[in-house]
Amino acid sequence: MNTPARFAFEERNAYFDRLCNTPGLMWLGQNTNHFDPHPSVIEAVVDALREGSYHAYAPPAGFEELRTLIAADAGIPDASVFVTDGAVEALYNVCSNLCEPGTEFLTTDPSWAWPMHFARKAGARVVELPIYDAAQDYKLTPAQLAAAVNEKTRVIYLVDPNNPLGTCHTADEIRAFTEIARSVGAYLIHDATYSQFAEGFSPAFLHYPEKAIVIYSFSKWLGLAGMRLGAVLARPEIIERFASAPPNNLGSNVLSQRAAIAGLKSKAEWFPEVLRRLRANQKAVFDAVAAVPGLHIPVYPSHANLLVIETVDAGIKPEALVAAYQPENIMIRQGTYHTKTFGDRFVKVSLSVPEHWVARFCELLPAMVDKARHLAPSTSLF
Ligand SMILES: Cc1ncc(COP(=O)(O)O)c(C=O)c1O
Repeated sequence: MNTPARFAFEERNAYFDRLCNTPGLMWLGQNTNHFDPHPSVIEAVVDALREGSYHAYAPPAGFEELRTLIAADAGIPDASVFVTDGAVEALYNVCSNLCEPGTEFLTTDPSWAWPMHFARKAGARVVELPIYDAAQDYKLTPAQLAAAVNEKTRVIYLVDPNNPLGTCHTADEIRAFTEIARSVGAYLIHDATYSQFAEGFSPAFLHYPEKAIVIYSFSKWLGLAGMRLGAVLARPEIIERFASAPPNNLGSNVLSQRAAIAGLKSKAEWFPEVLRRLRANQKAVFDAVAAVPGLHIPVYPSHANLLVIETVDAGIKPEALVAAYQPENIMIRQGTYHTKTFGDRFVKVSLSVPEHWVARFCELLPAMVDKARHLAPSTSLF
């Protein structure tokens, strides 16, 4: 029986439950991938169900075949892989192990919020470095990072490509960050959840194997968000620490792992078309936004499966635009989900989705902006 919505978690849960149970909802808000998978992915899951291989626990660090495939896909075949129930669980494990009272956790603003909660819970002080600025190409600069680190800096958490901005760091920038991390002995968590969508992504592990930790997800590129699968990649000495008391020591979902193995094996055949369709969707939204006075896309093209749309010059609140789209069965995300400081400037739209969803979003855009001018959102958004 559900308890009344007087607790924050209940309210949040009811919100997402409503979304999940809305028939035909167009998911343009969570950076999930809604394209049909390669047929072999479905077959792998059905076969695993039929064989009953899910009756047994999977190995605690993941199937060996999957671990090898992940390391290769991440471009760091020498790294050790620990498979997790999504990237977020990997981040929970890493942050809980590395952060403690007296330490500092550096990240950007905007960034992805949950690891900041994990770091604070473990006692670390969180420091956010602002990057929402055209003058620095909406990216962290080495000078900014160098000025912020000190002997207390335990972790530098870098979401790259950035969610929500869609910017991606060059190999030179990543190398500079690793040199700064090394100068103070800090770990560099390189959250590569969106790396498959980027051009020129460079894993920090290549430059700083001793203390770089790469976070990997199957939610975005392969579209397995609801199947919960990700990984953490690092030197085996570091993985050993995370493997000593992980949140889930009984192995990740067998069906999800079989899907992921099939997805990685068919990636070369399947994923280029996903990228092509994603980029065409980005272009369609870019053109639609250009036709509405006051709207603006700060980062285009984006290196992730999303675009940020600034609403501030159109005189509307991001929350109002989100609320305007809700009755149209379209979910987009308000900027405050990512950042308190800059969140009133923008909405985020995810675009690894069927073209007709994007066409509907674009067609409605002028009317939704008009509607948002007069709308005060009545329900909380998450
Ligand atoms: C930067 C970042 N890291 C991690 C995650 C979580 O990924 P997963 O679904 O694999 O837990 C997200 C989800 O949106 C994200 O944006």
